[in-house]
Amino acid sequence: MMCSLWRGSLLTLTSSLNRRVFQCCRQLGRSYNIASCMPEAVAFQGVSDHSGLYKFSVNESDRFWGAVARQRLSWISPFHTVQNCDFSQGKIKWFEGGKLNVSVNCLDRHVQTCPERVALIWERDEPGTEVKITYRQLLELTCRLGNLLKRQGVRRGDCVTIYMPPCPLAVASMLACARIGAAHNVVFAGFSSEALADRIRDAQSSTVITVNQGVRGGKVVDLKRTVDQAVQNCPSVQQVLVAMRTENTVAMTDRDVPLEEEMMKEDVVCEPVAMDSEDVLFLLYTSGSTGKPKGLVHTQAGYLLYTSLTHRYVFNYHDGDVFGCVADIGWITGHSYIVYGPLCNGGTTVLFESTPVYPNPGRYWEMVERLGINQFYGAPTAIRLLLKYGDEWVQNYNRSSLKTLGSVGEPINTEAWEWYHRVVGDGRCPVVDTWWQTETGGICIAPRPSDPEAEIVPGMAMRPFYGIKPALLDTEVVTGDGVLALCYNQYCPLNCATPLLGFFFTGDGAHRSKEGYYQIVGRLDDVINVSGHRLGTAELEDVVNQCPGVAESAAIGYSHDIKGEGECLPKTRSGKIMRRVLRKVVERNTDELGDLSTLDDPDSVHEVISGHRRLCGDGKQQ
Ligand code: WTA
Repeated sequence: MMCSLWRGSLLTLTSSLNRRVFQCCRQLGRSYNIASCMPEAVAFQGVSDHSGLYKFSVNESDRFWGAVARQRLSWISPFHTVQNCDFSQGKIKWFEGGKLNVSVNCLDRHVQTCPERVALIWERDEPGTEVKITYRQLLELTCRLGNLLKRQGVRRGDCVTIYMPPCPLAVASMLACARIGAAHNVVFAGFSSEALADRIRDAQSSTVITVNQGVRGGKVVDLKRTVDQAVQNCPSVQQVLVAMRTENTVAMTDRDVPLEEEMMKEDVVCEPVAMDSEDVLFLLYTSGSTGKPKGLVHTQAGYLLYTSLTHRYVFNYHDGDVFGCVADIGWITGHSYIVYGPLCNGGTTVLFESTPVYPNPGRYWEMVERLGINQFYGAPTAIRLLLKYGDEWVQNYNRSSLKTLGSVGEPINTEAWEWYHRVVGDGRCPVVDTWWQTETGGICIAPRPSDPEAEIVPGMAMRPFYGIKPALLDTEVVTGDGVLALCYNQYCPLNCATPLLGFFFTGDGAHRSKEGYYQIVGRLDDVINVSGHRLGTAELEDVVNQCPGVAESAAIGYSHDIKGEGECLPKTRSGKIMRRVLRKVVERNTDELGDLSTLDDPDSVHEVISGHRRLCGDGKQQ
């Protein structure tokens, strides 16, 4: 009902949006040398610009990825086959025959060339108390931890669960697993003991690594206590390594190992294990905005290569830059763009422990000034929140270090995009809206890389990355419904699960403009059908969010808009709105809300239910 009222404005908005194209970079002259933008491209004859390079990457996929893999990664022994993939059989193999160690790629080779370069800036909860860790120090921490894990009986092929907030020891734990050939399973340190126990059991971990307490937004959280509760129901767990984030002692049992104390007894040298390209690097669960969270596996070489290449070229990261991704390491964004991508590139990467509003809504920008952050990568949900507080919180701080602004996790509505560009970036930084998934492990569609002067359209992910060839399928083929579904039929070194009809089906809907740019319209399972017209949730929300007084909105199939404070919307811990819950509420199927374990604030569901009752009464659907 409401949707049909909105359709007129929606169409107008979409067309005006396409006109509001602007140019992010100054013209650099008509021609440029592609190799000056991407040195790897020197090897590709006849490639002279971005579109040529993109075409080469999809048409000559073996040559492209073979050359890039040889140049960007350090191999213990070289691969003999670039790719061996058959989507119809679900077979995806990259760089077979190759052996490497991910921690060597992320640490040792940089210690050889620049041991004193800062690898991690740990931006602790309290502003102004950051801690810097050099590559040499991070390698030492990693080796000590690797030796400790071995002493505790962790072997190649085991899976270690890590339940820690962003901190150097969490990164060292991930890399220590990689060094000794174990997989890691990082669980966001905000999940309940039940959710943690599920994931420990699934990974069959014998070892869990945690901290005594976490500190976030000025509050202390008893993480060790949550682990204690979880492991009561996890018979596989034999030891829990406990690092001390605060000075408060916690009860220790026979199973618990004081991490810092024991690792200091270990040697600073730990021989890296030679891993096969397709050995498991880690397990990670999706954030669970739709359906039950699912566990994904990523392997060694392809994942590392892809995160390093996207980190370098989507964000235009250069040696010496400070990269600030404010996600949590418990999500794929943290794995790929706090840890593996930046460290593989020898970068300096920020570990953000706090929240966007602690101690005030200027936190991000005060941090940008203090740490000299060059690339800032955040989520639309945080941008929308900060926009509400006004421009002054941004303008109080010097943001001249910023070069690129990134967005990830949900569609970024036009209003938020423009605020991010105009206020945060002073209108001079390209905003890259990056589309990807836990399944893909790295950014698949983003406005950059591109030709230097290429346009960026607000709120559009736009251009497929090298090697990615998206396909839009009519969903009648895929789900029997009917929006275009975003798929890929081109292999690149991603470890995508669930091949379907020879494609990898993403679950998202998208439009392709006449210029060939992609715009994501939201999850297909959330798509709204009005008299046969299928509308993406993102399109509707974009319109609603422009209304004064609306901070955030979630469009769902049966429909009135949920207004008011963003805090009322049921969101996952990673900030995504669980639209399926809203749908059940308006359909009055509150007995079938499904898995809510990943919700940030389960009470928000009760608020929505009672709000809906107030609006619509207790009776049947109106
Ligand atoms: C959504 C996060 C629109 C999408 C990296 C995808 C986006 C899901 C964008 C994956 C974007 C992520 N524009 N939608 N730029 N980025 N999404 O697994 O629905 O937590 O399928 O990975 O988030 O979420 P996940």
